[in-house]
Amino acid sequence: MPDQFSLVAAADPVAARVDVIRGHAGGQADFRTYPSAEAMFAAGKPADVVVIATQDAQHRAHAIQAMELGCDLLLEKPIAHRLDDTLAVRDAARRLGRRVVVCHVLRYTPFYARVQALLRSGAIGEIVSANFIEGVQPWHQAHSFVRGHWSVAATSSPMILAKSCHDMDLLAWLLDRPCEAISSHGALTHFTAAQAPDGAPPRCTDGCPAAATCRYDAHLYAKPEGRRWLAMVFDRAKEASDAEIFDWLRTSRWGRCAYRCDNDVVDHQVIAARFAGAVTATFTMTAFDEGRHLEIFGTEGVLRGGAFVKKQLGYDLVLTRHGWQQEPEKISVETPTQGYAGHGGGDHGLMHTLHADLTCPDPTAMRSSLEVSMQSHLMAFAAEESRRSGQTVTLAV
Ligand SMILES: NC(=O)c1ccc[n+]([C@@H]2O[C@H](COP(=O)([O-])OP(=O)(O)OC[C@H]3O[C@@H](n4cnc5c(N)ncnc54)[C@H](O)[C@@H]3O)[C@@H](O)[C@H]2O)c1
Repeated sequence: MPDQFSLVAAADPVAARVDVIRGHAGGQADFRTYPSAEAMFAAGKPADVVVIATQDAQHRAHAIQAMELGCDLLLEKPIAHRLDDTLAVRDAARRLGRRVVVCHVLRYTPFYARVQALLRSGAIGEIVSANFIEGVQPWHQAHSFVRGHWSVAATSSPMILAKSCHDMDLLAWLLDRPCEAISSHGALTHFTAAQAPDGAPPRCTDGCPAAATCRYDAHLYAKPEGRRWLAMVFDRAKEASDAEIFDWLRTSRWGRCAYRCDNDVVDHQVIAARFAGAVTATFTMTAFDEGRHLEIFGTEGVLRGGAFVKKQLGYDLVLTRHGWQQEPEKISVETPTQGYAGHGGGDHGLMHTLHADLTCPDPTAMRSSLEVSMQSHLMAFAAEESRRSGQTVTLAV
């Protein structure tokens, strides 16, 4: 969107990734490159706006450094990976008067925008309760949360924050009231050594007797669908030969047996939450389904929708009004021009709203500001505390 933004600099220790961004900058002669965010910030204010897309545990330092230099931010979720770090980022933004858009991209999808409009129009009357489900998908779980960057909570984020802060954000946004209390349960059940196939070695590349039937066999990374995932962690995924990929897997963390990793984040978790006005919500995160589903129950009707409805029935939402002879209303949400690629159109929607969010006279009008995003993170941290302690956690409202 060169009419709205100029890309002026990029920082990444992997030079090839900086080159990709330079390519997007359209051959700008004075484009600056740095081997790290730290090096970029040491050179002074890099730009009016900085996109922070480093790993979760780096967000606090990178976000605060950029804001102290006078930059506004597009900040990847999570805001930070710990509660105190998240509060520190928020306090810095307040102290410095900076604008921060958090990448809760689902707020910008046509699907959730339609759900929100229906709820605000009173289509189901007063909201009484809701049930949300997030199916991570087994391969995605193995790639990111067993073998990948978000597999160990101590060095990354708890699962309910890393994957489900989007869902916490949707609940807070759609129910449109503060969360008061949360209880949660969850565990790591499947991706453990106890579930490993007989004779499975530490690495798939060591010759596993279960390779032909194991759905997590790392050699699948060389298949077309596998390469899509591989591209997120191996820069040569597209052009590499199968042999080069297998060689890379021999030493990479993504070549490890999915049952013999050092992962400790959960593969399923539930929460039960109470919101202001005694509105209640349940949420399930599971590795063993694909896509998001929602049910929202109101005094006048029920709204259901998501991946299952779309796949089975071909439309996006079903609105059932209470009453003897009410026919369910089937609702299709218009597909954006670019299709549903990129988080259901959310990546596209967020980028197209970014300039307006960063320049609108009233910062409270921003759809996904740091201030409104805090609620989702407070819910996620409370859920994790509850899961660990077994106690209901009350949120300060
Ligand atoms: N909004 C969403 O739905 C969504 C989706 C995916 C990822 N994310 C978030 O985006 C962030 C990045 O995720 P990813 O999958 O791209 O991770 P990644 O590890 O692939 O990318 C992080 C990048 O940061 C670079 N880096 C490391 N140290 C650096 C430093 N000191 N200075 C500058 N760059 C440095 C790495 O080389 C790498 O290219 C994470 O916080 C993740 O949670 C959000």
